[in-house]
Amino acid sequence: MHRDRYFFTKLCEEGEGKTVIIALHSYKGGTGKTLLSVNLATLFAKMGKRVCLLDLDLRAPSIHSIFKNETQYWVNDYLSKACKIENILSDCTSKDVAEGKLLVGLANPSTDAIREMEAKDRKWEMEALGRLFALKTSLLNEMQLDYVFFDTSPGLQYSSINAIVSADIVLVVMSPDKSDFEGTRRMMRDLYELFEKKTGIIINKIPFEYFSAENQNNSIKLATHQLPIVGVVPCSCDILAAGGKCLFASEKPDHPFTKTLQEIATNLAFMMNYPARATPKPIKLEKCPSNCVSALFNA
Ligand SMILES: Nc1ncnc2c1ncn2[C@@H]1O[C@H](COP(=O)(O)OP(=O)(O)OP(=O)(O)O)[C@@H](O)[C@H]1O
Ligand SMILES: [Mg+2]
Repeated sequence: MHRDRYFFTKLCEEGEGKTVIIALHSYKGGTGKTLLSVNLATLFAKMGKRVCLLDLDLRAPSIHSIFKNETQYWVNDYLSKACKIENILSDCTSKDVAEGKLLVGLANPSTDAIREMEAKDRKWEMEALGRLFALKTSLLNEMQLDYVFFDTSPGLQYSSINAIVSADIVLVVMSPDKSDFEGTRRMMRDLYELFEKKTGIIINKIPFEYFSAENQNNSIKLATHQLPIVGVVPCSCDILAAGGKCLFASEKPDHPFTKTLQEIATNLAFMMNYPARATPKPIKLEKCPSNCVSALFNA
């Protein structure tokens, strides 16, 4: 068995019976939340887990371009109390998956729906938060799902804060950009720590030249924040060339991006077994250009 797969299975066994909601969030837009949430959800299903992916980016839905809606309902309808959670879920499990399951709830991409979501007031957002909390019992316990992934909007929109508050783990996707780093740092202090969330960082789109032999095999944490980095993802021309049409986790299992996702999955499973607010420990990464990453941010 592949080493990552072995550790992933072992760690998941330790956390058996628990259901985990993971929100992917970022300070800036375009950092890779959708790409990573879609591929991580697919990968977990391939690893035999029962997974649900919800598009909570109601102001700029994306996941409908990857998965087809087999239902007549959207996440918007569930949050507006127009239907039950099971009404919005399409079975998107790929054919090569033997044991796992991938259920996807899409956000309505129509212009009218986006306008409607933008006009929602605070009262609606509060009720939507109640609907997200209700998922814990309905979707998780009754449907016996192992993992739920939330793809969110960037920044401090109400809908993103709702997703963060109702999640067990927040994965912050950050690009190697000074303003993104500073914004992420502020969000850690003012948002994730405030809600006492288990938080991990994925640094995405790292230029290939930052990966070199002398920068491998290190455990890292950001100097200024004791939060673990659960993944460092290189910028990949293959991903750009695919133009969102390739589901790497399922179609290209041997691609370096998929291999990095496997490492992230293992680190995530490791994170799940830590109590919230435990003294964060640097997570051992198989291949991590830590010196380069610190150099990048200390520059
Ligand atoms: N590691 C990577 N290498 C190359 N391209 C990438 C990588 N990660 C993401 N991209 C590309 O960057 C673009 C933005 O990615 P994505 O839509 O996943 O970001 P996002 O954080 O969800 O954006 P938004 O905040 O607008 O929802 C996409 O074209 C995606 O294919
Ligand atoms: Mg997105």
